[in-house]
Amino acid sequence: MLGFEKSYEVCNCKRVSIEQIILALNKKENPSLGDIQNLTSAGTDCRHCIFKEGDNGKMKKKIYCKDILNEIKKERIDG
Ligand code: FES
Repeated sequence: MLGFEKSYEVCNCKRVSIEQIILALNKKENPSLGDIQNLTSAGTDCRHCIFKEGDNGKMKKKIYCKDILNEIKKERIDG
């Protein structure tokens, strides 16, 4: 996904991988960032991993929960 292995850890605080987010959103009809937080706990600690504009960390993330959410939505539309 987006050039990353599915095992890539998106949220370092909660140790959540891309794959865990994909699986969690599998049955959600219209998934949101809130669903990612509620279902996986990703983005519920320092919150730097939610989206780029909100990343106040010293070390910027390479990929964010929002990127994954957008990609999942895109894949669903494109088939
Ligand atoms: S890296 Fe996800 S909450 Fe801190």
